[in-house]
Amino acid sequence: MVDFHSHVLPGMDDGSQSVSQSVSMLRALAAQGVDTLALTPHFYGQSTSPEQFLAERAAAMERLKGALEDGMPSLLLGAEVYFFHGISRMEQLLDLRLQGTRLLLLEMPFCAWGRREVREVLDLCENPSFVVMLAHVERYLKYAPADAWGVLRASGAIMQSNAAFFLPRKTRGKALRMVRRGQIHVLGTDCHNMEDRRPCMDEAAAVLEKRFGAQAVQAFFRQGEAYLEEWSI
Ligand SMILES: [Fe+2]
Repeated sequence: MVDFHSHVLPGMDDGSQSVSQSVSMLRALAAQGVDTLALTPHFYGQSTSPEQFLAERAAAMERLKGALEDGMPSLLLGAEVYFFHGISRMEQLLDLRLQGTRLLLLEMPFCAWGRREVREVLDLCENPSFVVMLAHVERYLKYAPADAWGVLRASGAIMQSNAAFFLPRKTRGKALRMVRRGQIHVLGTDCHNMEDRRPCMDEAAAVLEKRFGAQAVQAFFRQGEAYLEEWSI
């Protein structure tokens, strides 16, 4: 199982604050069946240069490496890149893709998106150097123009939902409907810690399995693994 979104790298952002916290998260993810983990610390282009981010990320990875144990998920370095105007023309954006792939995890603004924002995401989708994955799409349903979702999906944008979207009774129905309609392609835990934003891939998988059956859920998660192959460079 692939977890496409996490804040497990220590000391990078509002996620894990220490190597020992990262280790607890990695043990939990492994126990939940995650065998490949995207490490996607926040990248804010307005306040950090790509060079600075990449250096800090490499140092965090070095600190974590010494504490890794057998059976933990394979780790892929990436970033959760916050959208800004002009992002599609930023040269170093290539370096923020998920390690070994064309995948760019994009975090959109938490306010109404206009045509301009959608156009710029479409520009990125049309660039063959990238596969655009929109992070936690469930948070943006009210912000994007209603017709934007279909256009973005048709342009190849991949929709990532957080596993936690599937857990509360009040959002579970919507989450399952979105999967059934092909509006959610992959899951990520977006885990930040072992408390209020802990890894919960197993719980989301159980909800999916209860609704769609074990075979369909296995196929759903296998699709995530197939995507990684398909997007590899
Ligand atoms: Fe995140």
